[in-house]
Amino acid sequence: MRDHDRDPLSTGNSSSAVIPDETFQLAPIPILIEDWYGIRLWVDDLRASGVTDLDAYLDRHPDAIQHLRETHHRFVDANEAVVTLFEAESKDAFFARAKKLLPASRRSNEQVLRAMFNGDTACQGERMLTSFGGRSIPIVWRCSLPRDPERYRRLHFYAFDITEYQENIDRIETMRAELARAGRISLVGQLAASITHEISQPLSATRTSVEAALRWLNRDEPELEEAMTSIRDAARWARDTTDICHKLRGFMARTPVQARMHAAEEIIDAAVRLIAAEAREKSIAVETNVTPGLAVFVDRVQLQQVLSNLLVNGVQAIASAGDDVERRLTLTARPDEGEMVVFSVTDTGLGIDAQAAGMLFQPFATSKQEGMGMGLSISRSIVEAHGGRIWVDTASGTGTSFHFTLPGAVRSR
Ligand SMILES: Nc1ncnc2c1ncn2[C@@H]1O[C@H](COP(=O)(O)OP(=O)(O)O)[C@@H](O)[C@H]1O
Ligand SMILES: [Mg+2]
Repeated sequence: MRDHDRDPLSTGNSSSAVIPDETFQLAPIPILIEDWYGIRLWVDDLRASGVTDLDAYLDRHPDAIQHLRETHHRFVDANEAVVTLFEAESKDAFFARAKKLLPASRRSNEQVLRAMFNGDTACQGERMLTSFGGRSIPIVWRCSLPRDPERYRRLHFYAFDITEYQENIDRIETMRAELARAGRISLVGQLAASITHEISQPLSATRTSVEAALRWLNRDEPELEEAMTSIRDAARWARDTTDICHKLRGFMARTPVQARMHAAEEIIDAAVRLIAAEAREKSIAVETNVTPGLAVFVDRVQLQQVLSNLLVNGVQAIASAGDDVERRLTLTARPDEGEMVVFSVTDTGLGIDAQAAGMLFQPFATSKQEGMGMGLSISRSIVEAHGGRIWVDTASGTGTSFHFTLPGAVRSR
């Protein structure tokens, strides 16, 4: 005789007192009917005997759940959806292995017991099932708990296969992890690109200065004074190179800028010297116009980076504009409102069209064959870290002005 045929309440093939048989059998949700009547009486007795803490009781009697399942519990009926869920050949095949497929687990059974013990009207939980084919199926189950103990002879357990839901969650988790990894990689990539970009100017200035020193020394009458000056310059550019590497690393980690008061003129002078060779080579005149006594509260090397980035862009813009345009690059600095200084770098190149202008400050945005697209992105980071802002003023065919503000003011000397 099959387990489910032994149900004492079963009349004919009616599977449930609550759900009409056909609806039950063909319901698209797996429904398992189990007999918990004996367990319900056991729970009532337990409570009557004065037990108030079920968890503590189960801790003291670790075999209780297994014992209850073996002596007081029965699978009564299952609908077609259960058979399908378990990938069983038939309902009989399912019932033949039901005890093994749905073993007593403290985690799952305890939830029903606790709800019964507390007099709750429903309970639910999650568990992992294993199908006949060995597939793991995560499910959420739910069960209504009637007041009348008699009705515990046919407790309805509804199961919801959450495989797909779980897979979606897993997919989202994987995507999130990948995104975080990509973010880290792109940060490392940006750092590498930034360093490469930012040290190229002072590095070639170092070389130029050393070569100049060599030429001064190589003369029939060596010019020691001039050689010393060139070597001092070389030492300074080399120091700046190291400094830039350190600062860029700190920059990515968002360490605060180390600002000090500097004469704007000095930093502008250094930046212009950094790009002088390139401007000369392309026959571009570089003019500066700085309000006397102007002081800025900045990290010296970082302001030098911003200026040389903008100046190099200007040189390249003019160089690529052909021979017909005027070849002049202007750098101005003057006080702005509210203890700020505004710097402007203006070229006589061909300008930028409005669409491209929106993207300029993004990392890796470049229109140049050999470009890295890092200069403006780094410049913006530096300016903003100082509490300033940077913007571009341009139109197609008219030349370009980049402006940025930094803290500072005119100091009486
Ligand atoms: N002065 C300028 N005139 C015209 N276009 C410019 C100018 N400065 C920047 N750009 C545009 O902005 C882009 C990004 O500049 P930048 O971040 O310095 O990267 P890169 O110089 O390596 O291309 C350039 O490729 C160019 O298209
Ligand atoms: Mg550039």
